[in-house]
Amino acid sequence: MANDAAPTVDLVVLGGGSGGYACALRASELGLRVVMVERDKVGGTCLHSGCIPTKALLHAAEIADQTRDSETFGINATLDGIDVPAVNAYKDKVVSKLYKGLQGLVRSRGIEVVEGEGRLVSPTAVQVGDRTIDAGQVLLATGSAAKSLPGLEFDHRRVISSDDALTLDHVPSSVVVLGAGAIGCEFASVWRSFGAEVTIVEALPHLLPVEEESSSKLLERAFRRRGIALELGARFSAAKVTDHGVTVTLDGGASIEAELLLVAVGRGPVSAELGYDEVGVALDRGYVLVDPYCQTNVATVSALGDLRPGLQLAHVAFGEGILVAERLAGQRPAPIDYDGVPRVTYSAPEVASVGLTTAIARERGHDVVSVTYDLAGNGRSQVLHTAGAVTVIAAKDGPVLGVHMVGARVGELIAEAQLITNWEALPSEVAQLIHPHPTMSEAIGEAHLALAGKPLHAHG
Ligand code: NAI
Repeated sequence: MANDAAPTVDLVVLGGGSGGYACALRASELGLRVVMVERDKVGGTCLHSGCIPTKALLHAAEIADQTRDSETFGINATLDGIDVPAVNAYKDKVVSKLYKGLQGLVRSRGIEVVEGEGRLVSPTAVQVGDRTIDAGQVLLATGSAAKSLPGLEFDHRRVISSDDALTLDHVPSSVVVLGAGAIGCEFASVWRSFGAEVTIVEALPHLLPVEEESSSKLLERAFRRRGIALELGARFSAAKVTDHGVTVTLDGGASIEAELLLVAVGRGPVSAELGYDEVGVALDRGYVLVDPYCQTNVATVSALGDLRPGLQLAHVAFGEGILVAERLAGQRPAPIDYDGVPRVTYSAPEVASVGLTTAIARERGHDVVSVTYDLAGNGRSQVLHTAGAVTVIAAKDGPVLGVHMVGARVGELIAEAQLITNWEALPSEVAQLIHPHPTMSEAIGEAHLALAGKPLHAHG
């Protein structure tokens, strides 16, 4: 398959999502000639059917909640209804504006975008239709797709994925959400705000099971208060589509009727039938195996983002894209510290974290100390009527290891926590920093003051 002619491009990127386009942009900045192959739209899942459109829905949901609660704040307003086509128009406008911007950016960097389904045909070539693109290097960035459970097929009508959920033209009267990861919790939050009856079914004992347990419990309390039914530690057994909806049966026999079943049990890699196997790229259950520099076992092939095992987050893919571009351009980028990557679930309330949970810190042998600062003591949180907490965990007599937050908009606060954990700050060092009053960020300052042994607005 090897082509004798010298390749005309340095890098061919297969997949134009967050990871693929970030790599293409950085590589072109560094003087590499780049071709990017995309079968759908540049921007990928994050821009078109993930991060961005869901955040638009969550913002519309927040406005619905605020309208419903307006009287509490002395404002007379009534929620007359949710105009889903209009909500979708707002969401689509946000996406299309960003999409236009991204296309312009890609063009301005001189990156050629080839539309079509690409396939790896050699360690240095990708085929799209009858065109073979030879390059010095290939980046596999084909991402992930919603997966289901054995025996549970998406019919895209009653049994739906997050892609289908984004294009509904009405508010469902009732929904069962299977899986309480970020996708399940975000859609449950949106639909409840829009007035649906929502039941979350999660096999593990808590919502967002990978988060600090205290964060999960706070979210559970908030969701229950909002009238979201929780079936925790409940395994899905079967789903039967009926004339009016779907009947979901759990192990143990209990059953729930709903108009829709959203399956949010994770996303799997898109790697089948793309030539990866044939070219000798090592895979594990469809995931492309890589080293800390996103290098596969084939010297000229890199892979990143949702396609490799590990965190499936757009911002991680951005970071990996930059890393791959810099490595291919001959620089020596540092590997990514995955523990230091912030994680945010944008439900109401939000859950945000960075660094280690208490359980993982203990597993790794740390002697852990922690402080939880309740947002009840934070002025701005009271103004906003949000409940939640900031938990900071640190090594005894050592640096901060992790920060875990629950509350309205705490996703916007996690960047400070990221600096604290990634720079391995001591609680006493953070305690010296004066936080602006009145802001929610003070809760971070207060937690560190308490950890440093000098609590200010904290009881007991
Ligand atoms: P996930 O893997 O995070 O969560 C799936 C949940 O389903 C798990 O809690 C699991 O225990 C549960 N589950 C699996 N099988 C089950 C069964 N038979 N019965 C009941 N529960 C079962 O996957 P999710 O939420 O679909 O998200 C996919 C990826 O996309 C994740 O990596 C997620 O982090 C990422 N994502 C991130 C967002 C964010 O950062 N805000 C938003 C949306 C997705």
